[in-house]
Amino acid sequence: MRVLVTGANGFLGNYLIQELIKRKHEVIATGKGNCRIKANDTFVYEEMDFTVVQSVKNVFSTYKPDVVVHAGAMSKPDECEDNRELAFNVNTQGTINLLEAAKAINSFFIFISTDFVFDGLKGMYKEDDIPAPVNYYGQTKLLAEEKVKEYAGEWSIVRTVLVYGRPQSGRENLLSLVKTKNENGEVFKIFTDQLRTPTYVKDLALAIVSIIDKKAIGIFHISGADQLSPYEMVIRMAEMFGLNKELILPITKDDLKEKALRPPLTGFDISKAKAVLNYSPISFNEGLRKTFEIKNEN
Ligand SMILES: NC(=O)c1ccc[n+]([C@@H]2O[C@H](COP(=O)([O-])OP(=O)(O)OC[C@H]3O[C@@H](n4cnc5c(N)ncnc54)[C@H](OP(=O)(O)O)[C@@H]3O)[C@@H](O)[C@H]2O)c1
Repeated sequence: MRVLVTGANGFLGNYLIQELIKRKHEVIATGKGNCRIKANDTFVYEEMDFTVVQSVKNVFSTYKPDVVVHAGAMSKPDECEDNRELAFNVNTQGTINLLEAAKAINSFFIFISTDFVFDGLKGMYKEDDIPAPVNYYGQTKLLAEEKVKEYAGEWSIVRTVLVYGRPQSGRENLLSLVKTKNENGEVFKIFTDQLRTPTYVKDLALAIVSIIDKKAIGIFHISGADQLSPYEMVIRMAEMFGLNKELILPITKDDLKEKALRPPLTGFDISKAKAVLNYSPISFNEGLRKTFEIKNEN
C-alpha cells in the first residue's frame, strides 16, 4: 500500500518508516525541512509543512496515498503551553488540513495521539474512558481526535504513552539524556509522582503497521505493559548499566513546577490491542537493553 507519513523526521517517524519499508509498503515520508531519516533510500521524501494548506494539497494530489499516518506534532507540553496559538495551528488545524486532503481521495487516516488527553486521576486507561486533558498540549490533541472522529472515511486513533528507545536524528530523549549526564557526573532530578506505561518505540511502530495491514479502525491504546514512574525508569536503567544512582534525585511536582501540568497517573490497559492486533510489547527491561545496544537493529 502507498503510505504517507507526517512527522517522518521525528522519533516515531524514523522507526515507522523503517518498519513500513521492511513490510514492502510504498512509503511517502514527509517532514519539515530536509530529510533526516535514517533508513535505506527505498522511500520518497517530500518536504511538507502540514500547516500550509497548499503544500498538503500538492503532496496529496501527487501521491494519492491509500493510508495517512499523522505522526507529526508539536509534542512538548511546555512548548505548547508557552506558544498556544502555534500549538493549536500545528496540532489541531494541521490535522484538519490533512483530513481535508485525505477526504478527497478517501485515504485510511491514522492519527497518533497521547495519554495526555486524560486527566491522570485514574490510570490504566481504556479506549472508552472519558478524556479530560489538564494541559494545552492534551487539549490540542483531543480537539484533533474529535475532528478525526468526524472524518467520513476510515480512521484510527492510536494513543500512546512516554515513548522511549534509541534516539534517532541525533536528538536525545529522557533515557539517553540521563545516561549521558550521569556518565558526565551531572545530577538529574526526576519525578516520582507520575505513573506511566512507557512504550518502546519499535513496538509502537509495529502496532501502527499492524493497524494498516489489518485495516483496524477505531481507537487503540498502545503502550508497554509495565507501570513505572520516570524515576523508576531511570533507576532501572542505572542498575542495568552501572550508573551512579546518587546523581539521580527523586522529586515531585511540589519541588519543580513545570509550565504545563502533567496528568499524574496515566498508563494504558492494552487488552484491546492484544486481542485485535496481536500486539505484544516487550518488557521495560528488554526495551532498555535494545535502547542501548551498540549495533543498529535495522
Ligand atoms: N514521544 C512521546 O513520548 C509521545 C507520547 C505520546 C504521544 N506522542 C505522539 O506521538 C507522535 C510522534 O511523537 P514523536 O515522539 O515522534 O515526536 P517528535 O520527535 O517531536 O516528532 C514530531 C515531528 O513532527 C514534525 N512537525 C512539527 N510540526 C510540523 C509541521 N507543521 N509540519 C510538518 N512536520 C511537523 C517535527 O518536525 P521537526 O523535526 O522539524 O521539529 C518532528 O519531526 C506525536 O503525535 C506525539 O504527539 C508522543
